[in-house]
Amino acid sequence: MTAKFIKPKFITLEGMDGAGKSTHIANIIEILKSQGREVVSTREPGGTALGERLRELLLHENMHAETETLLMFAARREHIATVIQPALMRGAYVLSDRFTDATYAYQSGAKGVAASKIQLLEQWVQGSLQPDITLLFDVPVEVSMERLASARTPDKFEREGADFFTRIRGAYLQRAKDNPVRFRIIDANRPLDKVKKSVEDIISTL
Ligand code: TYD
Repeated sequence: MTAKFIKPKFITLEGMDGAGKSTHIANIIEILKSQGREVVSTREPGGTALGERLRELLLHENMHAETETLLMFAARREHIATVIQPALMRGAYVLSDRFTDATYAYQSGAKGVAASKIQLLEQWVQGSLQPDITLLFDVPVEVSMERLASARTPDKFEREGADFFTRIRGAYLQRAKDNPVRFRIIDANRPLDKVKKSVEDIISTL
């Protein structure tokens, strides 16, 4: 019997604010397109008209951490139903700037929502859908904060302090440890061309 090899199609990018993941999206799209693939590039929270309206609330309104978690998953349900699932069904690659690992890192790791509650929502909203590969852009907390300080007007998450970011980083690294097949940790505390090369190496071998 021949082993069935399932090609990774659902790719997610994760990392602390300021880790630099957004810089690499255009490059990843270009690599996949040059291989003749259809690529759907999207983001969370957001990715749909409704999701983008929820994103406005999520990034700028203060709310209870569990309300925030529920809204993240409401946006995610819409995103999966109308964008991600249809794209995967027709054989396209989906590249999402953040997904559920961010909820574990931010709402659970940093804000204390029970991981068991997130698991329940994940099961409900995603069923068996999981990213095939997750690139985690990792930088030390000081580097992320320095980059944020020199960036545009911060949203509510980006205004948090070092403790918050330390918890996010710890939670992401723990997610990577718990899901070693899916995660690729990219040391993003290097010159841009080196990080770019690491990303290219991973994407071109998919
Ligand atoms: P981000 O992806 O960093 O976009 P930009 O580069 O435009 O700032 O912003 C999204 C923010 O939302 C980020 O601070 C992380 C947060 N977030 C959560 O807290 N939980 C989630 O489940 C998701 C998807 C994002």
